[in-house]
Amino acid sequence: MPSTVILGTGSYAPERVLTNAELSTTVDTSDEWIHSRSGIRERRIAAPGETTSDMAVRAAQVADAGVTAADIDLLIVATITPDQPLPAVSCLIQHKLGMRTNTACFDLNAACSGFVYALDTASAMLASGRYRHALVIGAEKLSSIVDWQDRTTCVLFGDGAGAIVLGLSEQPGLGLLGTKLGAYGDCTDLLCITHGGSSNPTTPESIAARDHCLRMKGKEVFKLAVRAMDEAARDILEQHQLHADQIGLVIPHQANLRIIEAISEYLELPMERFFVNVERYGNTSAASIPIALDEARRTGRIKPGDLTLLVAFGAGLTYGSALIRW
Ligand SMILES: CC(C)(COP(=O)(O)OP(=O)(O)OC[C@H]1O[C@@H](n2cnc3c(N)ncnc32)[C@H](O)[C@@H]1OP(=O)(O)O)[C@@H](O)C(=O)NCCC(=O)NCCS
Repeated sequence: MPSTVILGTGSYAPERVLTNAELSTTVDTSDEWIHSRSGIRERRIAAPGETTSDMAVRAAQVADAGVTAADIDLLIVATITPDQPLPAVSCLIQHKLGMRTNTACFDLNAACSGFVYALDTASAMLASGRYRHALVIGAEKLSSIVDWQDRTTCVLFGDGAGAIVLGLSEQPGLGLLGTKLGAYGDCTDLLCITHGGSSNPTTPESIAARDHCLRMKGKEVFKLAVRAMDEAARDILEQHQLHADQIGLVIPHQANLRIIEAISEYLELPMERFFVNVERYGNTSAASIPIALDEARRTGRIKPGDLTLLVAFGAGLTYGSALIRW
């Protein structure tokens, strides 16, 4: 069976930098609190009028895959912040990129694990033999769903996009070797937006209470995140009879430096083997791993033959890991 390989990556972060110091002028917080609790120093914020699809297009346009938009026949966009509830943002992106109308386009929502879920989905669809090249994007404008008056959440999130192009290779043992996906559906209330969906449609009251914004029980999410990421990483290593030490680089979801440090300790793998850029972007949800993956490739942290482990968790609470040989 042919392998699914990553042909290229690209990413985009909006120009506007919002520092902790600047945030502390609008909510009761400080650089010291945010940095010591999360590792974050600053995040990017989309320009007025700049949409999730705009950022996704910018990320896709710089992907170094050596293929054109016309070569892509599958587009999956992982996001929780599509430009609008309907249609899927993937269709808007398809049009903006000038892709062929016989490209399959859909969005996928697995929150911050969305990119790993989309990678697995795209890979399975390519392996079916019915598609040749997939564009997989993680893109978010979290600044549009954050409650800017809630200091417990607004300091943690940012905007951005990352993209990869997947293709098929006849060379065995390369590319996506495996994935492990799952969810703790009994913990949906830990990280959610309660209003604006079909069970609680938006009302003047819900808008006044900012119930259309993201809410989180940070401490509980923290504990479950560490457990889920540790398990997802261990499971996939076990599946492939690998020891953590054989992994060249772990690219974890960039939510919180302390979560990443806890995973490093649990896996007994030094922090030098983890790619970290949370200090510059905060948590960009589904965009976090593809942005990090692109930066890791472009800064030479990934070499041919290396094994890379992606590991994520997010609202749901979903989790996922993926093992890639370059
Ligand atoms: C949110 C998080 C950083 C908070 O860190 P923490 O060490 O758990 O901090 P606590 O919740 O104990 O808060 C401690 C105090 O700081 C206060 N606080 C919360 N946000 C604050 C802020 N931005 N600035 C200053 N103080 C703040 C709290 O009100 C609390 O005060 P109190 O003790 O008087 O009630 C941490 O729980 C976390 O990262 N959780 C996981 C979040 C995550 O990854 N979400 C994304 C999932 S994809």
